[in-house]
Amino acid sequence: MTDDAVTRWDRVAEGYDELTSEMMRPFAERALTVAGVGGRARIVDVATGPGVLALLAAPRVREVCAVDVSEAMILRLRRAIMRGGIGNVLTGVGDGQRLRYPSGTFDAAFSMFGVMFFPDRAQGFSELCRVLRPGGMAVVSSWAPIAQSPLMTLLFEAFQHGIPGFAAPQPNTASLENPQVFEREMSAAGFTDVQVRAHAESFAYDSAEELWDKLTRGSAPLQATREATDPAVWKVQEQNMIEFLSERYVPGTPLSTTAWLGTGRAPV
Ligand SMILES: C[S@@+](CC[C@H](N)C(=O)[O-])C[C@H]1O[C@@H](n2cnc3c(N)ncnc32)[C@H](O)[C@@H]1O
Repeated sequence: MTDDAVTRWDRVAEGYDELTSEMMRPFAERALTVAGVGGRARIVDVATGPGVLALLAAPRVREVCAVDVSEAMILRLRRAIMRGGIGNVLTGVGDGQRLRYPSGTFDAAFSMFGVMFFPDRAQGFSELCRVLRPGGMAVVSSWAPIAQSPLMTLLFEAFQHGIPGFAAPQPNTASLENPQVFEREMSAAGFTDVQVRAHAESFAYDSAEELWDKLTRGSAPLQATREATDPAVWKVQEQNMIEFLSERYVPGTPLSTTAWLGTGRAPV
């Protein structure tokens, strides 16, 4: 992990926690249902961010270990733990490609929209497999291609409209966007019973401004683009993008976005 990549997540931790988490929660809820973890389970949430899945899981399991490479994200999670008086979530700052837990520790392992950012995904998957007890289940999520998500299609059209030279997103068949690649990488890491399923959620917004804020304030890639742009220029570009969204988005209309949920079991 480069320091730059970590810092990028640090910088958006507040926006992510306040605005993006809400959108991620239903996917985490789905992942917990798929894993079917019970009251005695010990689980790990790798690339937990501000603890979206970890906090949902806490009342339902014995113990949650939550780890993220961004200290600012983990600080947000620690604050939530203190506010909620939660006693069974252990936090750590660390790299998902080199987990510090002994092999065979967990009944279930999760990484929601995390492994997709790892420079070495194979290492990330194999670490998830290593820390599971035999037969334990991993659930990993990653976004489906933008073309399958009307919400993301609209947002990326706004980027193209507002940011000169912003390239139309191209399908990346070598990434986890491609369910065959997803399945192959999980299998190569040692998981058995690997399955990759689509899960869609819909979101509605009261205004184009709300849609813009909720989808961009916690986005590390977009905030990096903003920081690389002169502030006065960005102000105009941002205004153009919000205007573009106002012309196309009817407030209250639900728009869907689709993720892949990959599941696999550690070999028995
Ligand atoms: C899109 S957020 C997902 C957060 C959360 N899991 C969720 O569902 O909302 C991606 C997270 O991955 C973390 N991350 C990126 N690379 C990482 C790595 N190598 N090890 C651990 N965390 C990493 C980032 O710091 C960020 O918090």
